[in-house]
Amino acid sequence: MQIFLDTANIEEISKGIAGGCVSGVTTNPTIISRENKSLQQCIGDISALSPDLTVLVEAVSSETKEMVKEARQLSKLAKDIIVKIPMTPHGLAAVRILSGENIRTTVTLVFSCNQAIAASCAGADYVAPFVGRLDDINADGLSLIKSIKKIFVTQNARTKIISASIRTPQSVAELFAAGSDIVTMPGNILQAMYKHPLTDAGLQKFAEDWRKVPKEL
Ligand code: G3P
Repeated sequence: MQIFLDTANIEEISKGIAGGCVSGVTTNPTIISRENKSLQQCIGDISALSPDLTVLVEAVSSETKEMVKEARQLSKLAKDIIVKIPMTPHGLAAVRILSGENIRTTVTLVFSCNQAIAASCAGADYVAPFVGRLDDINADGLSLIKSIKKIFVTQNARTKIISASIRTPQSVAELFAAGSDIVTMPGNILQAMYKHPLTDAGLQKFAEDWRKVPKEL
């Protein structure tokens, strides 16, 4: 079970890493465009924060040959890179080639079981279903994760699930319970995960009571 952050913002990632439970970062062209830096600069800055961080970077080419070339370059940007490849026939052909070169891939923009099956059969290490975007159009993102998990377990597929496009902290637990291997989320959702009013109240009471204990030093 792993928590990733779905951002390229250095402050957000630093805060997340400091919290102790983040082991990776996912990006896409939209996320990179928010930072006013080149892709190379963004990935360099992120991986400089922690050498152990897994970083997902997306290929933007549309043809197989160019995607493969781009993925080879992207895979060298940091120590632990996974290349995101869009869910298209050209993308899956690229995934097949890259899996033969030991370049790890995540097939992204997955919205159905059949897309996840095709990605897995092409050799994808991960699929990234966009849960929130399904919920946005009144579909059921959580059900999709449950179904993909069932298929992957039944078929003994090695492909793992990264649930993405997270809208609420509550959905994180539901997605892990449904079998997500990774959930990637914005920084505000991660911060909300830590919070519980009973934890705050309990801490306050402990602090008050501790002040009543006679101290030897
Ligand atoms: O990782 C995919 C994610 O960035 C998409 O999120 O909020 O744009 O649907 P969102």
